[in-house]
Amino acid sequence: MCRPSYFDVTYSINPWMAPDRPTSAETGLAQWKGLFDTFVELGHDVELIEPVPGLPDMVFAANGAIVVDGKVLVARFRHPQRGDESAAYLEWFGRGGWSEVRQARYVNEGEGDFLWAGGEMLAGTGFRSESRAHAEVREFFGCPVTGLTLVDPRFYHLDTALAVLGDRKIMYYPAAFSPESRAVLAERFPDAILAEESDAAVFGLNALSDGHNVVLPRAATGLAAQLREHGYRPLGADLTELLKAGGSVKCCTLELRT
Ligand code: ARG
Repeated sequence: MCRPSYFDVTYSINPWMAPDRPTSAETGLAQWKGLFDTFVELGHDVELIEPVPGLPDMVFAANGAIVVDGKVLVARFRHPQRGDESAAYLEWFGRGGWSEVRQARYVNEGEGDFLWAGGEMLAGTGFRSESRAHAEVREFFGCPVTGLTLVDPRFYHLDTALAVLGDRKIMYYPAAFSPESRAVLAERFPDAILAEESDAAVFGLNALSDGHNVVLPRAATGLAAQLREHGYRPLGADLTELLKAGGSVKCCTLELRT
């Protein structure tokens, strides 16, 4: 995770970002701290990367890399405003403990667009990561990659429209995907939880599951009820300040799979 010490909305690279609307770094930090505490209470080991002044979106650590089996593919951002974040992640992972670290050749926004679904990678494209990046991920990690196309600009990263809940279990918002991708998802994940528009619109799918506990934005009450029906334990987090930059629970979290 990355403490939002320099959080602000100073540019707009997704429809949620309105630089004219006031934001509070203090509120952002307090909300982020609430999420951090939730993860610690759930027993996770949380590592921190130092925030860099001038990189207000760095709080969205999910975008920094993809980490599977100790191998690290560091992001290559689409927009120049976030470009310098890659160097910070290369430096952090370069401190050691990883079997291989390199930066992606093609535009690849890390776990924003690449979600590990136990043995296979679900990969988003349409707004940020290029489809050439999907092939690069397949080669680098030696895993099957299922490409999915996003079509609604509000859901510009895969992790805003789909979350992996556990082995072969996902939840997603169908209308965020192209008809072809919707068909792929329906066929591959027939017992997925399908989110309503109202829950997707408060970023309810930007959630993190450990297989039982699912941390998700507090406002996604319909989705929380659905999760409960399916045997999960939803835990609501308030990250409304960070949503002004188009991010929430999952965006703030990069999973380190050793
Ligand atoms: N403002 C950031 C951007 O547009 C938000 C990133 C959210 N991260 C995520 N994993 N979806 O890039």
